[in-house]
Amino acid sequence: MTDNRSPESTAKHAGISGNPPTAGAIPGIVGIGLLGCGNVGGALVELLETEGEDISARTGISPNVRLIGVKNSAKPRPKAVRAEVLTENLMSVIEDARVDVVIELMGGVEPAGTLILEALRRGKPVVTANKELMATRGAELSRAAEQAGVDLLYEAAVGGAIPIIRPLRESLAGERMERLMGIVNGTTNFMLTCMSDDALTYSEALVAAQESGLAEADPSADVDGHDAAAKVAILASIAFGGEVGVERVYREGISQLSPVDIAYARRLGFEVKLLAVAERTHSDDAGVVDIAVRVHPAMVPRSHPLALVRGAFNAVFIEGGAVGELMLYGRGAGGRPTAGAVLGDLIDAVRNLRSGSCGTSGTSSPIRIRPMDDLCSQYYLSMEVLDRPGVLAAVAEVFGRHSVSIRVMEQVGLADEARLVFLTHVAREADVQATMAELDCLEVVERMGGMLRVVSAGEATEEGGWRT
Ligand SMILES: NC(=O)c1ccc[n+]([C@@H]2O[C@H](COP(=O)([O-])OP(=O)(O)OC[C@H]3O[C@@H](n4cnc5c(N)ncnc54)[C@H](OP(=O)(O)O)[C@@H]3O)[C@@H](O)[C@H]2O)c1
Repeated sequence: MTDNRSPESTAKHAGISGNPPTAGAIPGIVGIGLLGCGNVGGALVELLETEGEDISARTGISPNVRLIGVKNSAKPRPKAVRAEVLTENLMSVIEDARVDVVIELMGGVEPAGTLILEALRRGKPVVTANKELMATRGAELSRAAEQAGVDLLYEAAVGGAIPIIRPLRESLAGERMERLMGIVNGTTNFMLTCMSDDALTYSEALVAAQESGLAEADPSADVDGHDAAAKVAILASIAFGGEVGVERVYREGISQLSPVDIAYARRLGFEVKLLAVAERTHSDDAGVVDIAVRVHPAMVPRSHPLALVRGAFNAVFIEGGAVGELMLYGRGAGGRPTAGAVLGDLIDAVRNLRSGSCGTSGTSSPIRIRPMDDLCSQYYLSMEVLDRPGVLAAVAEVFGRHSVSIRVMEQVGLADEARLVFLTHVAREADVQATMAELDCLEVVERMGGMLRVVSAGEATEEGGWRT
């Protein structure tokens, strides 16, 4: 909602004095300082314009955009964005006494981090959708918000329109979280759906994603798993109550996947998904939360709800001690859906500001991250070998020497070569990696194909690893 009255009359109406806002000092109108007016910021201003009266009627809150900080104020903007509120002086948005709540929708770690810290220092609640920033400096910013006694809300940073941060932080606060598995990157899920349904190669699927406006010209943040790693770091920090920086997340992307491996996975009854996983693992030390956090392509049984998440949709599947299994599903990106989540945070922040309360980060537990080598899982492996007697025995001998037991094996002839496909019993990651390295050096192996971890029920194993 935009306000065409003079700043003086609006400030008087809002009871804004130029001092930091205090509990109960803000009646209906709330001054918004927006940092960034791109896909999400522009959609938010439009949403406030079209839905403003309805929001005001339902919540008693009338958000009024006072200033919008951008890089280039001459750039074309949606019609709802009034030219006179645009500024290239970002700090002036924070400093403006008419701004009660700051919404950061610029992206990137800096200058967003400095601006958010300054807003919090001035006692102004902050709403952000910035996963990169929250995954790298989330703990520092949350502490600053707690010290200032105001909100730092970031529902839109993970899963776009899907409510996941607030349910984890509030509804599931009493839950002993066992595992959380998410499809949290719509671009890669769209690409994998194309590779699975239409047998597209990785490169063809990437072009399809770029043509649909889902993938950037430089797609590495999506396809190499950086985006998903940032999101699972945020989710793990909340779910397990400790600091999990993005640099501690094990990460593999999808660029090595071939449609052949995806077709085999389907024949075996699985869909291939880029999964972001955070799970509690076996621990002997009381008081230390032992977890594994990782992003990699995985084979998901077709009977699992995550296997049904197609195209650019996202979902997070949660396994808790009391609630059992539940899944949140929806649009993980897009200007308007994400702006909807930002708006929810804004209303929450204003309500808290009025009541003089604020949410807490709750990230206080010591967390230990288990190394990837300890993972115990079933594995899918494929390789192309020479088609001659004795090859299978040589390959099987390598598996056996590393204690990797074969559950299913299939051989397909390819001219004078053959493709071998294996599904293993539960094996340790370190042993499977050693098996693959040795197979790669075997004279009869022409080339190694894909390796995929297989999702099953998570549990600790006798060897001290954990099973996924
Ligand atoms: N797009 C989505 O679907 C989505 C979903 C979930 C979360 N998010 C998060 O939401 C945030 C915004 O995403 P977006 O897609 O809206 O980004 P965007 O379209 O690239 O817009 C970024 C905005 O920030 C401004 N900006 C960026 N760097 C700046 C700087 N150094 N100084 C001044 N202004 C700067 C830009 O100004 P100009 O317009 O002048 O260039 C632009 O208005 C990001 O943190 C993103 O991760 C996005």
